[in-house]
Amino acid sequence: MDLSDSFEKIPVNVFSTPKQGSAFVARQIADFIIAKQKKKEKCVLGLATGSTPKSLYTELIRLHKEEKLSFKNVITFNLDEYYPIDNKALQSYNRFMQTNLFNHIDINPKNIHIPNGEVAKEDIKEHCRQYEKMIKNAGGIDLQILGIGNNGHIGFNEPGSGIYSKTRLITLDNSTRIANAYEFANISQVPRLAITMGISTILQSKKIILMAWGSAKAPVIKKAVEEDDSEQVPASLLQNHDDVTFVVDEAAASELTRNKSPWLTGDCDWTPKMIKKLW
Ligand code: PGA
Repeated sequence: MDLSDSFEKIPVNVFSTPKQGSAFVARQIADFIIAKQKKKEKCVLGLATGSTPKSLYTELIRLHKEEKLSFKNVITFNLDEYYPIDNKALQSYNRFMQTNLFNHIDINPKNIHIPNGEVAKEDIKEHCRQYEKMIKNAGGIDLQILGIGNNGHIGFNEPGSGIYSKTRLITLDNSTRIANAYEFANISQVPRLAITMGISTILQSKKIILMAWGSAKAPVIKKAVEEDDSEQVPASLLQNHDDVTFVVDEAAASELTRNKSPWLTGDCDWTPKMIKKLW
């Protein structure tokens, strides 16, 4: 994609609906897994949780059931987990992954890695160090899937997370706790801490796809894509990676200059609607 005459510092692929965007990403993952199978190689995927990737996982399950896509050569590393949390709790990301993907495909359970919200506090540092080591030993992450928080977080790397950060314990932003409160009985039950891969861990992935759906994400997508990179918007740090793509729906793309003020990008069809928009 040529970004030279655009305000955008990251390639953005826009789809009409989340379903279409998810199907596109699922196809990329499937093709990648199959290419690796042909070479008798493992495929290392970095996976995300939250509402955004649910439609992606539904499509991957469909590809497994209807098109016989096998996950036997796949190794996964999840981005994050609440801390502390019981792995079996409804809100745990361990449970989310079992319910929304792993229980429905033929992945070897030994190949699944998710930060452990049950580890003792004094063992967290070592747990995080081991997590980084396991990623390295697997050969690094080939393809990392990301969502994005309204505050720009990726994984649970909240604003202020540095570009050199690694897997670690982090304090959740109040905005994140409010955004995720719907998963819990009330906000006081949302854990205050989480274990997350760092920005540096994510940037070391060979390829990255960030997905976002809906108008609530539009302002942060614009910031991450068009403004200068800053630790205050962790997703903008992805501008420092040379193989990252954002896959968004039209609503999430609505604040991009190409849509909001297309006359500025020199790519404007002056329809009556567009003239009205300017005035
Ligand atoms: P969401 O969360 O997919 O539930 O919108 C994304 C995130 O917080 O990273």
